Amino acid sequence: MKCITYVSKVVARKNSAVIPVGFANMFSAARKKNAELQITGLISCRSGYYIQHLEGDNNIVDQLFSKIKSDSRHHQVTVLFEFEIAQRSFPEWNMKLVATANEDASFLKFMDQNSGKISSLDNTQRQLLGIFYGLKSSSPNSRRSYEGKSLMLLAWPDLMLLRQSPTVIKLCAQLTAQPYPYNSLLESRRFGTQRQLDKILQKFETLEILSVTDSLKQNIPVNRVGSSTRFYSKMKTFLGLR
Ligand SMILES: Cc1cc2nc3c(=O)[nH]c(=O)nc-3n(C[C@H](O)[C@H](O)[C@H](O)COP(=O)(O)O)c2cc1C
Repeated sequence: MKCITYVSKVVARKNSAVIPVGFANMFSAARKKNAELQITGLISCRSGYYIQHLEGDNNIVDQLFSKIKSDSRHHQVTVLFEFEIAQRSFPEWNMKLVATANEDASFLKFMDQNSGKISSLDNTQRQLLGIFYGLKSSSPNSRRSYEGKSLMLLAWPDLMLLRQSPTVIKLCAQLTAQPYPYNSLLESRRFGTQRQLDKILQKFETLEILSVTDSLKQNIPVNRVGSSTRFYSKMKTFLGLR
């Protein structure tokens, strides 16, 4: 057995971003056919996107998915997960239709059991999954501990994030150019409490701009305030924040 989870863009009626073309007919036909094919799974539609999870015998899932992929009632089909399974996650549903996948216990269980696969999704896949599933609160990365690690930014976040907080700019400045120990960031108390600091770092991780490595040098002096403040001040001017 195998499963496939994909997200696709709804083809909506003119002037309607939310009601997909022919969904009711398509859905009842699909349920009937899935029962014959012993396909189970879930489908949800939100913000102009479908998410569908299909599970069943390998060949049957592949054949059905290749039909679904070329269905003109949706487009931009992006596969998030495709892997062999020993048992079904939706055994009782030939196609469970849910308004909010995020609140469906079976869907959440499936996500929880496959959290490792979520962390290897690329940026586009993560964004698409994020329409249906709050990655920030449930990604394994968001619960990681940075203790004893060195951190460095691979790129700066966009201006919207920077505008939210001068602390974010200060932290960006500190993590630019070379890896910096998390423990020193914490001890300096320039970035709020541990919870506040972790929240910003987790945001950087979600954006995939944070490099986290094992710390080699724990004793980098904390006092780089002068140069960082100058940098921060220049950034503020550059960003038009004053
Ligand atoms: C978002 C979406 C999900 C679909 N899901 C299913 C499904 O679970 N099962 C199914 O039989 N058809 C599904 N369909 C419809 C198929 O694309 C196809 O129209 C259907 O299998 C009938 O194909 P056939 O008449 O060639 O046998 C879906 C279509 C769309 C747009």
